[in-house]
Formats: sequence, structure tokens, C-alpha cells
Amino acid sequence: MVYLTRRERFNAAHRLYKAEWSDEKNFEVFGKCSYPNWHGHNYELFVTVKGKVNPELGFVMNLKTLSKIVRENVIEKLDHKNLNLDVDFLKGQITSAENIAIGIWKAIEDQIKQHQCELHCVRVVETENNAVEYYGE
Ligand code: NI
Repeated sequence: MVYLTRRERFNAAHRLYKAEWSDEKNFEVFGKCSYPNWHGHNYELFVTVKGKVNPELGFVMNLKTLSKIVRENVIEKLDHKNLNLDVDFLKGQITSAENIAIGIWKAIEDQIKQHQCELHCVRVVETENNAVEYYGE
């Protein structure tokens, strides 16, 4: 089994908060990410797929195909958007890196399978100090 990773990047705005809480309570739990007037991050996304090397072509999956799947289903939906307001697969959720990673997984899992590969990991890097990895369960 070989693991293949593609990196993409997107910039997006968000706010971490619970609508039923006061601004003070939200700040207590979510810190600066709770500020009411939004803020942005330069996210990095690492999508790792796994599979057998195709003996004829020498690769697990065509990187052009993987990049296209990620760009069309994820980057175009998230880049320069407000994650709380604009993204169908994050509607009604707290836009934490955890939920972003899970949403991205669901958005691309089936299409990866159509190329004789399995999705292995979605890694979302929110800041240089914070990252999450989701392995599908
Ligand atoms: Ni934030």
C-alpha cells in the first residue's frame, strides 16, 4: 500500500460561537476565534489517499485527478468564503478545524473511491501551531 498526499490551500473567514451564548461566554470558550465580526485564516489542506501502485502507470492515483477532485469539491467552495455562511457542508455547524476536516472528507470520499483509491487522511492546518487530522471515524 502506498500513500499519496496532495496539498491545497484556501483562505477563508469564520467565527467560532454558539448563537445561544453571550459574547463573553463565547470568548471564554472559543477565545479570539469568537470575535463577532469574523476573522480569517490561511488554511492548508493535505489530502492523503492510499492504494496499490498501478504497474502500468507507476502511480497510486493521478495527481492531476486528485487535485481536480479537491479543487472542484472543496477549494472552490471554501476559498475566499465565509465558512459559517457560504459552505453547504458546514451549514449549522461550528466551523472548527475538526468539523472542516470531517466536511471535506465527506465531500470527496466517494469520488476518490471511483479511482481505485481510498481516502486515508484529511489534514487541515489552521495556523502554524494548530492542525487536525481526520481518518474517517
Ligand atoms: Ni479562527
